[in-house]
Amino acid sequence: GAVSASVAQTNLHRDCRWYSVSHLSVRERIEKKRKAALVGGGQKRIDAQHKRGKLTARERVELLLDPESFVESDMFVEHRCSDFGMEEDRNKFPGDSVVTGRGRINGRLVYVFSQDFTVFGGSLSGAHAQKICKIMDQAMTVGAPVIGLNDSGGARIQEGVESLAGYADIFLRNVMASGVVPQISLIMGPCAGGAVYSPALTDFTFMVKDTSYLFITGPDVVKSVTNEDVTQEELGGAKTHTTVSGVAHHAFENDIEALLNLREFFNFLPLSNQDPAPIRECHDPSDRLVPSLDTIVPFESTKAYDMLDIIQAVLDAKDFFEIMPNYAKNIVVGFARMNGRTVGIVGNQPKVASGCLDINSSVKGARFVRFCDAFNIPIITFVDVPGFLPGTAQEYGGIIRHGAKLLFAFAEATVPKITIITRKAYGGAYDVMSSKHLRGDVNYAWPTAEVAVMGAKGAVQIIFRGKENQAEAEAEYVDKFANPFPAAVRGFVDDIIEPATTRKKICSDLEVLASKKQVNPWKKHANIPL
Ligand code: HXC
Repeated sequence: GAVSASVAQTNLHRDCRWYSVSHLSVRERIEKKRKAALVGGGQKRIDAQHKRGKLTARERVELLLDPESFVESDMFVEHRCSDFGMEEDRNKFPGDSVVTGRGRINGRLVYVFSQDFTVFGGSLSGAHAQKICKIMDQAMTVGAPVIGLNDSGGARIQEGVESLAGYADIFLRNVMASGVVPQISLIMGPCAGGAVYSPALTDFTFMVKDTSYLFITGPDVVKSVTNEDVTQEELGGAKTHTTVSGVAHHAFENDIEALLNLREFFNFLPLSNQDPAPIRECHDPSDRLVPSLDTIVPFESTKAYDMLDIIQAVLDAKDFFEIMPNYAKNIVVGFARMNGRTVGIVGNQPKVASGCLDINSSVKGARFVRFCDAFNIPIITFVDVPGFLPGTAQEYGGIIRHGAKLLFAFAEATVPKITIITRKAYGGAYDVMSSKHLRGDVNYAWPTAEVAVMGAKGAVQIIFRGKENQAEAEAEYVDKFANPFPAAVRGFVDDIIEPATTRKKICSDLEVLASKKQVNPWKKHANIPL
């Protein structure tokens, strides 16, 4: 009797409290919650965000998407934590610490989440994770990319394992979506601990300079474990990740520049692996000749030139979105258009380390080629490569298994593959760089091409060791091999073309190859050397 009386009393008490706070009608309460969601953690925290040169989660979404196109979901979702006073009203924020939904970029569908640093430092609660998972699932159902705007203090400490579970739920979806819909992460604030693995699993990670960082453990933990003194910026800032670690693919000056560039970038991508790469109306004639290319390769084969000059000259309107421009600069990769179609460009860069392939450039190239192949983007490869970089640093670092990645990626790719050998194609690197033997569809040599096991000097030292008349032997070797004929007579290149006609040829080949169909043997998945 006593117990049930006390329960009844408690219920009565609850009801009174209920009625006392909700003189408001349901409609008014909806309105109130929507309003609250729009200001996140409140004006004071919004001001603090602005003061750091950062936009709020909602401002970012507005800038990223076409005007009025954002359709928000889960504005009413709240965290369900009741420890550490989290159950109190003042600790509840409609929508919690992330804004999610869908919208359009240049009219094309995209799903977005934007972490709200003004609510518990954008930290990831179970509810926050659930919101992200929901839009990821929808993106997979309809076949549309997912963009994550990251600005978060990591796991919601008050929620403990609930938050860790939420991360894992997102990681699993990142993996399932890989190769199905493009996934892009823009890091716009802190991203630390295990939280870094969601961006790392996505296809592209972009950062904002000075305000964003990614690391597994912060400077304090580093100090206590390894006794190193390092700042946040040195440890995981944009410069570190775009020049040293290769974790991020691009860095931008500020939020606005980053979001506008992200829109441009998005335009290159198909919506899913079922979607052809988008075609944009092109005003640059597809049969445009580029006479400057006829003299671009220096006469002396050891002299450098800039592969970017060649790449830009053949593209539509010089419009090149370079990926990782400041990392492993001996290889150039990025997106462009040829006669309006998106293409992926890979080029050795003779200006840096003679365009040698090394560990970092192989991994950079391989990841890019695999993205293109997964998303139906033709690959155009410009070759001027003296081989793989020799030395203990490379061998101990595992150049064999890393170089194999690039080889693997080109070989398994079934998208249209067009290759232009501008000068050197030496040794194993000749095979690797989208050669005919790896199912290159159309392979061209310029008149300056040299396809050989190695350069003349090295070759003569080996095969004519100790012989007099080294100079004569070298001249003979050059005459035999330092030209495109050995490859052309065997059909290993399809034609020797005038450089000026390169754009015209590629555009015409892409047209033909648009209907290319090639299927690899069935397998659960391949076993790329990691
Ligand atoms: C709950 C958090 C939080 C978190 C920040 N806040 N991080 N609340 N969980 N993880 C809250 C703060 O209490 C504060 O609330 C508000 O967000 C803003 O934080 P400040 O510290 O005032 O901001 P700032 O000085 O800019 O520093 C930002 C920060 C710092 C560097 C991110 O907050 C920080 O170090 N947070 C903890 C980071 C962390 O260790 N996270 C766990 C990592 S491990 P008030 O109310 O005071 O404004 C992890 C594992 C993931 O994430 C595992 C995945 C598998």
